[in-house]
Amino acid sequence: MTSYEVVEPRAESLVESLRAFGYATETAVADLVDNSITAKATTVDVRLRWAGNESWIAIVDDGLGMDGGRLREAMRPGTTSPLTPRNASDLGRFGLGLKTASFSQCRRLVVMSATATSSLVARTWDLDHVIRVGGWQLLTTLMSEDRAMWDELHGDQPGTVVLWRQLDRLVVSPDPQNEQAETHFYTIADRVARHLGMIFHRYVTGPGKITIRVNGRNIAPWDPFLESHETTQVVTDESLPYRGELISVKSFVLPHVSRLTSEEHTAAGGRRGWASQQGFYVYRNRRLIVSGSWLGLGFRREELTSLARIRLDLPSHMDSDWQIDVRKSVARAPGALVPELRRIAEVVRLRSENVYRHRGKVLQRASQGDVVQAWLQVVRGTKIAYQVNRQHPLVAALLTAAGGGEVEAMVRLLEETVPVPLIILNHADGPGRQAAPFEETAPDTVRSVLTDVVRAMSRAGTSGKEIVGRLLTMEPFSDFPDLVREVCTRELGQEMA
Ligand SMILES: Nc1ncnc2c1ncn2[C@@H]1O[C@H](COP(=O)(O)OP(=O)(O)O)[C@@H](O)[C@H]1O
Ligand SMILES: [Mg+2]
Repeated sequence: MTSYEVVEPRAESLVESLRAFGYATETAVADLVDNSITAKATTVDVRLRWAGNESWIAIVDDGLGMDGGRLREAMRPGTTSPLTPRNASDLGRFGLGLKTASFSQCRRLVVMSATATSSLVARTWDLDHVIRVGGWQLLTTLMSEDRAMWDELHGDQPGTVVLWRQLDRLVVSPDPQNEQAETHFYTIADRVARHLGMIFHRYVTGPGKITIRVNGRNIAPWDPFLESHETTQVVTDESLPYRGELISVKSFVLPHVSRLTSEEHTAAGGRRGWASQQGFYVYRNRRLIVSGSWLGLGFRREELTSLARIRLDLPSHMDSDWQIDVRKSVARAPGALVPELRRIAEVVRLRSENVYRHRGKVLQRASQGDVVQAWLQVVRGTKIAYQVNRQHPLVAALLTAAGGGEVEAMVRLLEETVPVPLIILNHADGPGRQAAPFEETAPDTVRSVLTDVVRAMSRAGTSGKEIVGRLLTMEPFSDFPDLVREVCTRELGQEMA
């Protein structure tokens, strides 16, 4: 016979681990909304109320509800194994969400529920009680203030109220009158509303839609693909066979900034902005898991590919293949699908680059006004090249003075060797990484270059007044108007000031 000893996890230490799954408030609330949707709710009401130490958050639904037995089971950490097959419309995963999501935000979790055939039942996890007694004692007594909340928020029909009290991680001051703490709290409410609008956008639109409200307001669905916009392009639409099933993959190139109003552009940029929102959007049962990622397929987030977004629809039983985590916010592509996904990504990325290049040129000209640029983008055959602007006053003066020859040859050499790949590579790390003209340069260096330009123009017979005017509209000196005036005054005489 096998001999053993039972080693129970120590409740008071496990409590802290269960609180540390890395949920943000909005991802924690989304996990509870999953439960409501799985329970066939048609309305989910999220309430967040500031009251200092007494602040609370409630998720109220009109779903099927639970009777005493199911509720007791639901409160058990790890109730349903991730290996148990689930109903196709089930948004659950590990049998943990209700507990881990709630404990990440509060110290007291009250769940009250009623079904069509059983009246109100309630259970409470009070983490301080668990720690005090050193055991998982689930409280069956319903406090009167919690009962009052049921009556106020729900009434007598079937459904569930999940109530978070003692929000120790959200309440930054115990004082209900503390305005800063209150503002902080309601900022979180806004974040929750926006997040739910993104995660559940396919549930609150179309046939069979449900209602999700945050503090009484319907959430605004955020469609990452701007499908209703006339200039959104569908690039590919196909189904990839995987383990005897089909995964639907549809790729889009979104409208260029010049085709959107500024509100549309900002909205479509989402929470993280255009450059970060590109890539795959992975849905599990129409619920968004990953919002914009190249899924480790070896692509970078580049400015030029920021119009590329790809929708990927997974059934929930593929969870383990995609390594969906407890928070339902991470997914990884299974190896067998990598080549196909990479092919689709390449096509749509290229299409985004083309839209960008084509539109970008027009845009550049329009926004630069009359400033004389040092570099021009030109088309040579079917390729793009960069040329030093021969009309730039300094360039023109030099070329004329040198009579072409070696100076012209040098300019050509520089043009033919613009380190484009290097620039793109560095740009992908963030546009702010590359120095703007004369950024991180000693002012004396700028002054000395400027002085040489002023002298060259003066030698070429340009009048003082014109020199000032031209420099103020000449790249890059247009960014240094004070320095232009200072140098011109010194070089050309007092009258320029
Ligand atoms: N709002 C709800 N309405 C009805 N049943 C619920 C609700 N929330 C949770 N449950 C029940 O509690 C169980 C445990 O939930 P949870 O810990 O989130 O794990 P999972 O969602 O992975 O099953 C669910 O499987 C469901 O049976
Ligand atoms: Mg769940």
